[in-house]
Formats: sequence, structure tokens, C-alpha cells
Amino acid sequence: MDKDSTRLQAPSGWAIQHKCKTKFFRRLAVFAALALSLASLNHLSLSFNEEEATPAHIATAISRCQYLAREPGPPSDFHQRTSSDRYEVGTKATLIINAKIWTGEHNGTEVIDGGILMDKGVIVAIGRINPGLIQSYKDLVITDVHGSWVTPGIVDMHSHLGDASSPELAGAIDDNSEKGPIEAWLRSLDGLNTHDDSYPLSISGGVTTSLVLPGSANAIAGQGFAIKLRKTAEHSPTSMLLEPPYTVNSSFPDYSITPRWRQLKQACGMSHSNFNNTRMDNLWSMREAYDKARTIKEEQDAYCSAVLNGQHQGLGKFPDDLKWEMLVDVLRGRVKVQTHCYEAVDLDALVRLSNEFKFPLAAVHHASEAYLVPELLKKAYGQAPGVALFATNSRYKREAYRSSEFAPRILAENGISVAMKSDHPVLNSRYLLYEAQQAHFYGMPTNLALASVISTPARLLGLDHRVGYAKEGELQADLLYVVVWDSHPLSLGATPMQVYIDGISQLKSPHVISKPQEFQKVPEVPNFDKEAATVVEYEGLPPLQQRKSVSGLVLFRGVKTFFLRGEGSVREVSMTQDDISGVVVVNNGAIFCSGPMADCSSSFSESDAEIIDLKGGSIFPGLVSFGSPLGTSEIEAEDSTNDGNVNDPLTAKVPSIIGGDEALIRAVDGLQFGTRDALLAYRAGVTLGITAPSHNGFYAGLSTAFSLSAPHKLHPGAVAQDVAGLHVAVRHFDNGPSVSTQIATLRRLLLHPVGGESGYWFKEVTKGNVPLVIEAHSADIIATLVRLKMEVEEAKGRTIKLTITGASEAHILAKELGEAGVGVILSPVRPFPTLWEDRRILPGPPLSQQSSVSKLVTNNVTVGIGVVEIWEARNARFDLAWASLEAGGEIEISKQEAIALASTNIEKLVLGYTRPTLSTELVVTEGGDLFDLSSKVVAVINPSQHAVEFL
Ligand SMILES: *[C@@H]1O[C@H](CO)[C@@H](O)[C@H](O)[C@H]1NC(C)=O
Ligand SMILES: *[C@@H]1O[C@H](CO)[C@@H](O)[C@H](O)[C@H]1NC(C)=O
Ligand SMILES: *[C@@H]1O[C@H](CO)[C@@H](O)[C@H](O)[C@H]1NC(C)=O
Ligand SMILES: *[C@@H]1O[C@H](CO)[C@@H](O)[C@H](O)[C@H]1NC(C)=O
Repeated sequence: MDKDSTRLQAPSGWAIQHKCKTKFFRRLAVFAALALSLASLNHLSLSFNEEEATPAHIATAISRCQYLAREPGPPSDFHQRTSSDRYEVGTKATLIINAKIWTGEHNGTEVIDGGILMDKGVIVAIGRINPGLIQSYKDLVITDVHGSWVTPGIVDMHSHLGDASSPELAGAIDDNSEKGPIEAWLRSLDGLNTHDDSYPLSISGGVTTSLVLPGSANAIAGQGFAIKLRKTAEHSPTSMLLEPPYTVNSSFPDYSITPRWRQLKQACGMSHSNFNNTRMDNLWSMREAYDKARTIKEEQDAYCSAVLNGQHQGLGKFPDDLKWEMLVDVLRGRVKVQTHCYEAVDLDALVRLSNEFKFPLAAVHHASEAYLVPELLKKAYGQAPGVALFATNSRYKREAYRSSEFAPRILAENGISVAMKSDHPVLNSRYLLYEAQQAHFYGMPTNLALASVISTPARLLGLDHRVGYAKEGELQADLLYVVVWDSHPLSLGATPMQVYIDGISQLKSPHVISKPQEFQKVPEVPNFDKEAATVVEYEGLPPLQQRKSVSGLVLFRGVKTFFLRGEGSVREVSMTQDDISGVVVVNNGAIFCSGPMADCSSSFSESDAEIIDLKGGSIFPGLVSFGSPLGTSEIEAEDSTNDGNVNDPLTAKVPSIIGGDEALIRAVDGLQFGTRDALLAYRAGVTLGITAPSHNGFYAGLSTAFSLSAPHKLHPGAVAQDVAGLHVAVRHFDNGPSVSTQIATLRRLLLHPVGGESGYWFKEVTKGNVPLVIEAHSADIIATLVRLKMEVEEAKGRTIKLTITGASEAHILAKELGEAGVGVILSPVRPFPTLWEDRRILPGPPLSQQSSVSKLVTNNVTVGIGVVEIWEARNARFDLAWASLEAGGEIEISKQEAIALASTNIEKLVLGYTRPTLSTELVVTEGGDLFDLSSKVVAVINPSQHAVEFL
């Protein structure tokens, strides 16, 4: 169908309306309007005024028409105000002194030493503050932050907080309508749950502002709203809004006011399976919608041109339609258009759409291939959109397969604005700053990395007059979203000591960990220039294979620290006094000598060796990844790349050909080697994966331990252990068997094993030979499992090895688990109340003194740290360093103990023993140890390959 011909009818139809004067013609007009509506123009609220337009009507029409041309933004007197519209009466004026204030100004490079004076919800002064001004306050709260970093609050420009609320209950996911692909009239505000458990958690991570967007299941999903996360006196969703557009409570707002920015959520690509839409269908649905909006806009423009030219004869009603007014506003450039759009194919279509209908794009979100097409982005209408990204959350679907950790820096180098975002609860926005820390680690400049979660998103949202900046000398800016940090915000684990929203402190009695002085500086980071160039050259899929050492003999010098496995744990081997002159000599993949050069030099000839200077680097045992389908899955959303789920005998009959109830599946049979997540994890110091069969119910099967670097299963050392633990899950499954049914099943399998594979392995469990590894989150379920363990042990007279994974609520039973000898793998390691069964988390600093890790460790529980999704495997080094930092308050987790959390402890808990020192890999870092953001993994000493592998 030719849309243009339809569109062209509208103005002439409208003209008819204007000319009609008599009843006859009015009827004719009604008929014409009917005909027009049949021609799919039913969006026009046509009405007819036979009288001469009254002066009031004309005046309204004129102001409305003038209003259409007005650009949104702060009114001209905005910065003169002395009180914020968000000010809560009774909030005391507060002065923060001795702060190191990152202001966001000067491209994110400005830092001011001094104070911040906040009153009535606005910043009154910043920097060196006039003592007279200070003395004029009677009741001033003064906080000395002793040189700590202070920044404006974190702005999350892509969140579903409140709309996809936690814990997830029926009706909690309120962010996707399934009524149709175009839903520009819907508002995320209408689903905003004020009781989401995430609010205090995200505030405790320094997030003060979130743009709550509708989901991505529609081509145009609706309107987003920026909220402040603090509780308000009114307790309502509306009172949480930050500068709500006036349309929020008025179909036709006061035309004398400067409009405010609105936010629209769109989505390209393949998120629209609800409507069986292909990419082509999706784009057409958008074009059709914008064409409708364009028709209305042209009607309005014609109307206004008449109004403003004094042609008031028979002035009718302003042509408008509540359903389409949002998209008309988009076409008027009065909306920040936020588009979920991943691949080059989608970005290209979006850029064409913006040019066809002439509207600017504020940002493209997820945009995994944006870094491959920066020049395309610059062709968008009006301006290049910003790009809102995750740091390392990648490869979960085809659209994200070519994502790169180097995308933020590459885009920045191309002059594109980059924001990091959470997509909360996809990532817990409490840790949005971690996304910026990773972007910085992989090469984004310091100023832009910090800006990427504070000032850049504020600017992309059109809210930079409210949030994201602290402007020196500019009095009374409304910038009261301030965070005081315990360390430089780009250092790993940086945690707020206090968060102010609207001048109100948000943390009641924060638990602050004192961090070493070096954490107050901008962390040094490795050089990844070569890797970043390669990723572009290979369009996101650079080769990840390692290179074997040419010579059998490799000399590492400049080794600062050296950790080895030993006695089931990890120990530090002393090197030299000066920290940098230590050497480690490796011969055919085995350590041959270590210590000062003088101790080793006599035993080999340097000229035979490949010599690598680690510049204060480190050698430590390879890490172990557990918890995700690493090695049995490549792209989570693509069945054709995955092993698939096992049959669950509790929910359906298992085919008798595999043994019916006696079947037990081995993950080793579904292993895939050389998956990108495995190779990327290998390059980040993780050498072994332990993976259970994928499952979506009670039954899993036997896990396996495998090398992350082996090219295939027949390669020497590819499978480290065929069968590791026996895995089940006891959970509150949707429509699944009851928890008590699952426990009864487990009791029967342990006390009265069936035959076949299942019987054999359950007997191995009750003999204490094989660990029983149970995913459980609720403290009640975990307690029941501890009782079951005792019951079985009493009946069988043997101790069984029980490991709980997931374990969100395990901290509640820390003492009992320690006494019962039950180990725990925390996955995720930083907890989140995803479901009811994990809502009672121990959040850790600043909300609680202890973290789950420290609470369990202090109670003598063997703790491992695991992951949930395969892309997370590569981040094990950050996870363990962070866990040890977080424990810093109550107990010390030494570097050795921290490495054990992600290596030997996991082996103990799932394999049942720790692998022998001589046959396990050692990882080599340059420029620091794996706890330092300055270090990079450069090699693996691999005994099974009799070689050093360079990465
Ligand atoms: C902002 O900072 C980046 C990175 O440090 C730099 O490349 C860019 O030129 C700066 N932009 C301006 C306008 O100063
Ligand atoms: C409508 O919203 C505006 C802007 O937030 C606000 O000033 C006004 O008080 C609201 N009116 C009502 C009736 O809620
Ligand atoms: C999508 O297609 C499937 C299979 O043809 C069909 O069962 C389903 O009803 C369709 N859904 C919609 C929303 O059209
Ligand atoms: C943990 O073990 C140590 C050494 O075995 C013991 O001294 C301590 O009391 C135990 N702590 C708890 C909480 O059981």
C-alpha cells in the first residue's frame, strides 16, 4: 500500500472542515471525516466550529501554536532559584568539608578541593566557601570527609527498576505490553512499584537517578520516566519523578511553560517475538507509526500557519490525538528517543528511519555493534546518538555476539558519547559504577569513564541542569545528588560512604571499610591498544587462541609475587626483598626455579630461554569457574549452540531408552571446546571450568571439569575429570513439584537408590566419595537439606559431602553450616533479591558490616565464589579481589585465601578434592598481581601442554 497517497489526502480533508458553514456542509464534513477515518485517519480528532472563533479560542490557539516551536529544557530562571521543587521540608542544610570533588565539568577532567554547601535541595556553594555564608546558617550539619572523593550521583539511563521489580512476583514484570508492536502512548510510570527491594540497594551503590524505560518487546514500547530513587514523604510513584514532563498529568499542558524533555523507548532487531515480527515487519511498524504522526504534525502545522497568519475565520479545534501526540512530539524534536538497537543491520535501519522522519536519536542502547559503525551513527538525523552499553555482559544472543569490552574506548575515540547502563535488573544497578570501572580497565579514558555513569547519561537524557554535574561558582544549581566514596570511584569495589539525594542523606548508619591509600588514586590500567585494534579488524570476533612458547625454557623476570597451590589451599612463595627482581624459570611447562636471579642463574643458560619481563607482575594458580553453563553453551538464546536441558523425571517421563528414572546425564558428554566465553576467561586467568548438565528443574546430573583452552575433547588434558559432583536443585519452581516433593525425592534417592546410573552415583554420594551439590537459595530449604544430610549420615554411618550453590540466604545459617561441614558456593557472589527465595540477602557494605562471603568464612564454612551466566566467567579475578576488599571490615581475607575462593575451594566443593599442584596451570600477570587493575594476564604455564602459552 502506498502510504504517501493516504497521507496526502489529509490536508485537503482538513480544508473541507474549514470551509464548511452550513448544516448541510457540516453533515457532509462528518461524512468526509468518516470516510477519512475509514482511510485509516481515525486518529484525527476532527471537530468543527461553525461560529466565528471567539477571542479566547484564538488566543489559546496562538499560544498553543507558539508552544509547539518551543524547545524543552530548563526555564531561563532555573539557576536562580533558591529552593528545589524536590526539597522536603525539614531537611537540614549540610556542609561537606575537605572533599575532592569531581564535578563532571571540562569534559570530566575538573576536580576541586573544598566543600559543598547544600540547602533546600540545591547546592548553594561549592569549592572554597565563604565563611560568612557558612556562619549565616544556624543549624548546619557539617561532615568532614577527610579528602574523600565526592561526585554527583550516578545516573542510570537504562533501568527497569520498579517496573521489573524484585523480588519477582506475578505482575512484577510490568514493563512489556503484548498488545501490539507500537505502544508509544504507554508510560512506564503507570507500572512503577514503589516497593521494589532494589531502591535502597541501588542507592547504596551511589545511584541516585534512573531512567525507567518500558521493555524491549515492542518496536515502540512507550514513554520512559526519570526517577530519583529515594523514598518521598508522599510515598507515591509520581512524587519520585525527576522533572516530569507536564504531559504526565495533563493532556494539554499550560502553553506558557517551557516544556520539559520526554523520553521514548524504541527497540530494533529481534526482541519482538511476541508479535512474530521479522526485522522487516518491525521497521515497517515503526515507519507506519511515524507516518501517522507525520500526518498529524502536518495538520497541526497547517492549522498553526493559519492561526499565526491571522486567518481565524472558522477556526476549528487544534488537530491532535492523545494516542499519537508522543510521536508527534518526537517529530518536533522534543523527545529524547532511546532505542534498544544492537547490530549494524539494525543501527542502519534506525539511522534511515531518523532521516526519513527527521527526528534526532538521543542514544542507542545495548548497541553491541555500534563500535563497528561509528561513521554510520554520525549520519543519524541532526546528531550522532550516544551509545549506552554494558561493559562485559555479552554474547547472550546473536545480536550481542560481537560485543566487545573495547567498545566504550573505540566509540569514545570516534567522538561518540558513551554511557554505561544497567538494564536493571539485568545487571544490578547497585554496581553500575563497576561497568565504568571495567570500561576504564579496557582503555576508556579516565575522564570519560567516570562521566559515562554520571554526566554523560545526564546530558543524553536532557537532565544535565539537574543531575550529573557539580558546577563551580554557579550558585543554586539543583545538583543535590552527591556521593561520597571510600576510594577513587574507578577503583574496584569503590563504595559510597554516604549518598545525598535532594540534600537528604540516604545511608542511616553506613558501614565503611577503610581502604589502603593507593585506592584513593586513579587506578593504573594495562595497555590494550593492540587488542582493541584487532577486535575492529575482525569485526568483533578476534582470534583468541594462545601461542605456545617457542623455546621449552621460559624465564619470567620482574616477578613481584608468586602463589602456588599446596595442602589443599594456596600459599605465597617468597621471592625477593625488592619486589621486582624475582625470577621464575619454567621448563617445558613445569616450574624449574624461583627466587632471586642469583639463585637460578647457575642452573640454566639465559641464551636458551625466552625472557619475559613482568614489570612487577605475578604468578598464581589458575582460577576455576563454576555455576554457569560454560563449556556447554555458546550463545544462551540460541538452542543450536547449546547442549540443551536434561529431562526432569519429576515433571515428565524420561524416555525408557535412556533408562527412565535410572538415567543420569553427564555434562562431559555435551562439552564444547573453544567457546568464546571459555577462551576469554582463559585470557583473564581462569583455566578450569566445572559445569553441570543444564536443567530447568530438580534434576541436573553429573558435572565435569575441563580445560578452557583445549581445542577439542581429544586433546591431552582437555577433560580434567569426567565426573565431578552430582547436582540437583531444590527450588520454588514455577508450576513445578513442591519443595517437599523434591526433598522426598532426594531422601528416597539417597536412602533407597534406584538402579542404573542414578543408583550407582547416589551410592557414591552416600559413601562420601562424590559431593552432592545442591542449588538452593532459601534459608528454609538449606536448613531442610542440612537435616536431610544428618538423617542420611545416621542411616548410612558415613559422612557425606554436601555443597550448597546459589545460596543467597545461606548467611542466615552460617554457624550451622560451619558446624555441619556444609560448603557453600555463592553464585552470584554479590547477592541480589531476584526471587522470593533469595530476598533475605546480606547486602554487605555500606548496608551491613559483613558480606555473605565474610560471614560464612568467619563461621568456618568452605566458601567458593561462582557465577550465573557464562560471560561472567572472565570476571573471576575482579570478583575475588572485590570479595576480599569487602571483607576488609570485619576480617581479613588474605590474597591466598581470596585466590582459594575461586580455585581450590571450588574444587573441594564440587570435585571433592583439590587437584595436585604439579598438574595444574599457573597464570602469569604483567604490571601487578591479579588484585591490581594495573595488571594484565599475559601467559599461562600449562603442564598438560608441557609449555607456556602466551595470550
Ligand atoms: C574529552 O576527553 C577525551 C578523552 O580524554 C578527549 O579525547 C576529547 O578530545 C576531549 N574532548 C574535549 C571537547 O575536550
Ligand atoms: C501536575 O504536574 C505538575 C508537574 O509535575 C505539577 O506541578 C502539578 O502540581 C501537577 N498537578 C497535579 C494536579 O497533580
Ligand atoms: C506467532 O506464531 C506462532 C506459530 O505460528 C503462533 O502460534 C502464535 O500464535 C503467533 N503469535 C502471535 C502473537 O501472532
Ligand atoms: C573456626 O575454626 C577455628 C579453628 O578450628 C576455631 O578456633 C573457631 O572457634 C571456629 N569458629 C567458629 C565460629 O566455629
